[in-house]
Amino acid sequence: MTREAGPPAAAPFEVLATRAQVTDAVERVAAELSTIYEDDVEPPILVGVLKGSTLFLADLIRAMPIAVQIDFMAISSYEAQAEQPSVVRIVKDLEHEITGRDVVIVEDIVDTGLTLAYLRRTLLEREPRSLRTVTLLDKAVRRIVPVELEHRVFEIPDVFVVGYGMDFQGHYRNVPQLVAVRDLPRLAAEPRLLVAPLFGAPQVRGAR
Ligand code: PRP
Repeated sequence: MTREAGPPAAAPFEVLATRAQVTDAVERVAAELSTIYEDDVEPPILVGVLKGSTLFLADLIRAMPIAVQIDFMAISSYEAQAEQPSVVRIVKDLEHEITGRDVVIVEDIVDTGLTLAYLRRTLLEREPRSLRTVTLLDKAVRRIVPVELEHRVFEIPDVFVVGYGMDFQGHYRNVPQLVAVRDLPRLAAEPRLLVAPLFGAPQVRGAR
């Protein structure tokens, strides 16, 4: 008996940008930033917003042939009340004083804009010499609050992205490319769904 072949099952993800495409685009933005700060006496401080921006920050600064310093902030957001926009607070603050310094916020993604609006307000109160933001991904279609955003690597539609620092429930930050998840409910039910297609089948390490 032969079975009729149905259409092939759609992959549960789509590669939005390969590692090489990400590298090229990050280098373009790194060049933009380098031009802005190359003649400054004091180096700019690039502030990575933990944790999603870490891979982007690492590649960005290595593509900037100027003096830079780095620092990190961690923030958390929570729903104040049902149907209210989320409230953001600082979990880890900067180690640098930024008064009088050029500061660049480095984000992996700007979505509703609430996080960036909060960060900008908080950092501007410390009176930096200048404040700019660079984001790997700009999901402008989802913006709730208008926010200044000077540099973006990619603008994306309303898709859920993992890889290159971005996660789903802690998984997939180390995927080298940018990957859009096609079926989020299915991934929520099976959080490790993309492990085999993205990393290859797990090695057999003996029966347990
Ligand atoms: C992401 C991203 C931004 C924020 C943007 O962080 O790094 O900080 O969401 O969203 P918004 O524009 O809607 O405020 P996330 O909470 O996923 O934390 P992570 O970087 O540690 O994964």
